[in-house]
This record gives sequence, structure tokens and C-alpha cells, in this order.
Amino acid sequence: MRVISCVELGPPEKLQIEERPDLGPLPGHVLVDVKACGVYFVDTLMVQGLYQIRPEPPFTPGGEVAGVVRAVGEGVETFSAGDRVIAMPGMNGFAEQVLLPPERLIPMPKGLSFEQASGFYQAYCTAQFALDNRAQLQAGETVLVLGAAGGVGLAAVDVAKQMGARVIAAASSPEKLAACRKQGADEVILYSEEDLKLRAKELSGGGVDVVYDPVGGDYSEPALRALAPGGRHLVIGFAGGEIPRVRWNLILLKQCQVVGVDWGGWGSRNREANAALFSGLAARVEEGQLAPVPPTVYPLEEAARALRDLMERRVVGKAALAVG
Ligand SMILES: NC(=O)c1ccc[n+]([C@@H]2O[C@H](COP(=O)([O-])OP(=O)(O)OC[C@H]3O[C@@H](n4cnc5c(N)ncnc54)[C@H](OP(=O)(O)O)[C@@H]3O)[C@@H](O)[C@H]2O)c1
Repeated sequence: MRVISCVELGPPEKLQIEERPDLGPLPGHVLVDVKACGVYFVDTLMVQGLYQIRPEPPFTPGGEVAGVVRAVGEGVETFSAGDRVIAMPGMNGFAEQVLLPPERLIPMPKGLSFEQASGFYQAYCTAQFALDNRAQLQAGETVLVLGAAGGVGLAAVDVAKQMGARVIAAASSPEKLAACRKQGADEVILYSEEDLKLRAKELSGGGVDVVYDPVGGDYSEPALRALAPGGRHLVIGFAGGEIPRVRWNLILLKQCQVVGVDWGGWGSRNREANAALFSGLAARVEEGQLAPVPPTVYPLEEAARALRDLMERRVVGKAALAVG
């Protein structure tokens, strides 16, 4: 099988493609033929040694894949050969096969392509956990989504609309804003050129109820300043590279909440609740209430190009690697 290997920490161009022996079934494990790998911002950090988890090279990146079960090992009863699944290996996903315990697999929602499914789980669970569990978003409230054409951003636009919110999407290019509109955003802000705080206040009629912020950097403070009294600013991530330092008097004056979101940590401590959260999302996809957009697809051997495009903000929506 072919595998993408990070032999040395650094730019994605250092990644290599290797030929390795096929994997075989193992007791208590499921062998999956990978059809598509989701490409996440976290993968760009991991290969550079910039993520909080720093595996020693050589290692294979790739936290989430979609594929078909080839074989199950002794003792596995929850999956069978031929099942379509989403698998969360954490890493080792940029490969033609993965071997995992069944707890790391979930059935693929019907109606999604392998490419769509490979970027669904983390992106949509993060959006749902943030907007529902953490912000307790109510129908009729206004949400400002930063980095709205990115992976977790576009998922948030979809989830927030489905929850009955009014969505203002902010992104850095007209092409990205068009993708946000297509996903259902009511209003858009070109935050690379327009005044984010001013426009968000204008478009929301005085202030937004929730900010969904996976970008950080210079965008966080104007977004926080655009909150209505009692608003919630969801801290999702720092794709912009800088962790913002906001003065606390702002939080006092605005009487707002700054709400941390760590879906991965919560999910591993609350497995049943997380499984229920995912089942709810899968059901809404199957009923046509949520509509994950097809990603930009790269062949497996072009993993470095996919990561580079993500790092340079060239990807609109999600990216995926097609395998096989
Ligand atoms: N808290 C959680 O539970 C959780 C879960 C999953 C992911 N995350 C985090 O969420 C963040 C986004 O992840 P993602 O997979 O959605 O990433 P992504 O698809 O690359 O989207 C990130 C967006 O950030 C914007 N951006 C601004 N400055 C950037 C820069 N210098 N480099 C790259 N992008 C930049 C880009 O939009 P514009 O070009 O429009 O600005 C881009 O679309 C990451 O920090 C990730 O670690 C957090």
C-alpha cells in the first residue's frame, strides 16, 4: 500500500510517498481500505512540529478518513466487510489502509461521497458542539462566523442556519464569500478589506449574539467588539497563527462571555454524549437538513500540495485526498 510519510519535521514539501506491505487483520481491530482522507489545518501544524501533539518522524499524518471495511479481526462484532465507514485514526490516515479498534469507526452517513465524509466528522462535530453545547445558540439569534469558508467555518454556517440562526460569514476573498452564500450565509463580510466590527454591527442591527472564531490574530478583537450585550465569543482555534490578547475591560464593559471550545477533549471524556451528538448530525444529513459541500480533491501523492494550499489560504471549503 502507498503511505505518505513525514520523514523530517518542516514544510509539507518534505513529505514522501512510500510503498509498504499491505496490512492484515488483527484480533479486536478493523481493517479499512481508505477511499478518501480529510485534510485539516491540524495536519499542516503536525508535519511542521507546531501542534500540541508532536510525534517523532517518521510518521504518517491524517486524522480522519472514509473508506470500506476490508476485514474484521476476531472478536469484532459491530462492523463487517463491505461497511462504509468514517475512521478516526488521529494520525496514519494519509495511507491506502488503516487498522483500528472498532471504537474509532462510525458508519458513514448515507448520501455523502467518500470525499465529503472524510471531512465531515471533526468539522461538523466541532460546529455543533460549539454552537449548541457551548453557546446555546437560539433560533433567531445572529452568528458571526470568521474563516467562514474554511473547514470548521463552513460547517458552522451550515449548522447555524439549520438551528434557525441568522448567519454573517466573514472571509478573505470574494470566491470564499460566494461559497459561504451557497452554504446559506445571509450576509457576508470581506474582512481582509472591510471594517469587521463596523460591518458586523451594521448587518446585525447593533451587535451579533455569537462569534464563532477559528482564526484568532487580528480578527478576534474587532469581532468581540461587534458582540451585542450578553453575547458569546467562541474560541475555536488560531489558524491565523497569532493567539490574540484581548484586554479584559472589554469583556467587563460588553458583559459578554468568552467561551473556550475543545470538542476533541470533551468528546474523549464524554463518549456517549459525543456519539449522540454525531448521530444527530448524521440523521440531519440523511434527512437533507445539513449539506456538507464537496471538498477540493487532490490525489494522495499530492498531499504536500493540499497542505500548502491550506496553509496559504487558497482552499475554498474543505480539502481531501482521493485514494485508490
Ligand atoms: N476547538 C476545537 O475543538 C477545534 C476543532 C477542530 C479545529 N479547530 C481549529 O480550528 C482552526 C481551523 O481549522 P480548519 O481545519 O477549519 O482550517 P482551514 O480549513 O484551513 O480554515 C481556516 C481558515 O482560517 C483562515 N485563515 C486566516 N489566516 C490564516 C492563515 N495565516 N493560514 C491559514 N488560514 C488562515 C482562512 O480563511 P480566510 O482566508 O477567509 O481568512 C481559512 O479558511 C484550526 O486552528 C484548528 O486547529 C479547533
